[in-house]
Amino acid sequence: MRAVSVPGTLVVLLSGPNLDLLGEREPEVYGRDRLADHVASATEEAARCGLELEHHQSNHEGELVDLVHGARGRAAALIVNAGALTHYSWSLHDALAAFEGVVVELHLSNPAAREPWRHTSVVAGVADGTITGFGGLGYSLAVGAVARLLAERAPGTT
Ligand code: DQA
Repeated sequence: MRAVSVPGTLVVLLSGPNLDLLGEREPEVYGRDRLADHVASATEEAARCGLELEHHQSNHEGELVDLVHGARGRAAALIVNAGALTHYSWSLHDALAAFEGVVVELHLSNPAAREPWRHTSVVAGVADGTITGFGGLGYSLAVGAVARLLAERAPGTT
């Protein structure tokens, strides 16, 4: 379990490489919805939970590292679908380890049921939990999980 949380209601959703192509890219694996559709459902669920969602997508590892740094001290939680960086980005691992709030790892597909190189996540060890394999539903599930964890960690909660 990760240590402390940052007070507040801001949740930053980060989308890694190639997720900008959702809807066109391998629809048999990732579905026909576009990233904007997933962001909309996450934003809706966040509003329902009294949270605010900010989304960023990048195809560049360093930019994602910078975005994690930018969330420090400002966001209460991060939801991260790092795309293929999930499987090898130690710099993203280290950036997430330096984030004080809740971290949820998210995937549309179930990497454990796919090619062997997708079975390792270097992000999982610095996340509070992982949501995989539920397709677009995962976006609202991830926000719901964040809301529950933030409520549990709110000051005055035992
Ligand atoms: C993904 C799974 C990764 O293995 C892959 O590289 C992606 C998408 C998912 O959401 O299922 O780009 O993160």
